[in-house]
Amino acid sequence: MTSQKKITKAVIPAAGLGTRFLPATKAMPKEMLPVVDRPAIQYVVSEAVSAGLSDVLMITGRSKRALEDHFDRVPALEQNLIEKGDEERLRLVHEATGLGDIHYVRQQDPKGLGHAVLCAKQHVGNQPFAVLLGDDLIDERDELLSTMIAVQEQTGGSVIALMEVEPENISAYGCADVSDVEDSDYVKVNRLVEKPSVEDAPSNLAVIGRYVLHPRVFEVLEHTEPGRGNEIQLTDALQELAAAEGEGSGVHAVIFRGRRYDTGDKLSYLQAIITLAIDHEEIGERLTPWLKDFAQTL
Ligand code: G1P
Repeated sequence: MTSQKKITKAVIPAAGLGTRFLPATKAMPKEMLPVVDRPAIQYVVSEAVSAGLSDVLMITGRSKRALEDHFDRVPALEQNLIEKGDEERLRLVHEATGLGDIHYVRQQDPKGLGHAVLCAKQHVGNQPFAVLLGDDLIDERDELLSTMIAVQEQTGGSVIALMEVEPENISAYGCADVSDVEDSDYVKVNRLVEKPSVEDAPSNLAVIGRYVLHPRVFEVLEHTEPGRGNEIQLTDALQELAAAEGEGSGVHAVIFRGRRYDTGDKLSYLQAIITLAIDHEEIGERLTPWLKDFAQTL
């Protein structure tokens, strides 16, 4: 188990249609919606790169050209900023282009998250890799991905991230039944269910959008039947690996207690922006007193 190479690849599924944000996402990918001053996807790519995953594969679809453009150089804009001597904005522009080695592959049919991950098979090869879902932002001050990578290196199987949610909210997530592992700060996953009803949920532990997976998941995804919502679910493939035996089987989980922001629907997207803007060095100090005054008027 210790002989495997260091994990260097991250897969970011970004082929979703963004229907919850229509009409804003009619001609623009939802991953490009700004969270304060950076598109949501930039936070996710930065998180991967900070955890040492400098090879990033984005699974995109139609109308996603803006994603590629965002992570590409814009010589005319850079030249313009250089001529103006605007070093600060030049630094911000370079932030998105100096991030790792970004590759793109298109998911031809939106057949679900499991199918999107399967599109990464060729690029990933036979090594463990991470998957980061673009709707979930993890605060850069809180550690998650590198802990999960360490657990994968120790256990050899796949690793998911779980977070406690209010029991009535569990049906928006994959849900896990877990048991403790002696002398360790991760748990063993016994069973996974994608978006169970509140009554059938085995716990209030929700799957959040970070995974470190053994490549055996590809074999499983190749025969995973469409599940919830008639989509090929990653959760179903991981349930099969949790119950399997032998090389690459087993699923463990890190329980995350830090700050996670969900940008996947309108309300939580706005909450994410406000939460991050309060700490923003340029506007935080002015936003906070304004927010307090504004709250008084409600
Ligand atoms: C996906 C997964 C789900 C997980 C969630 C986390 O669902 O299928 O298991 O809990 O991401 O954000 P989605 O939100 O894409 O419907």
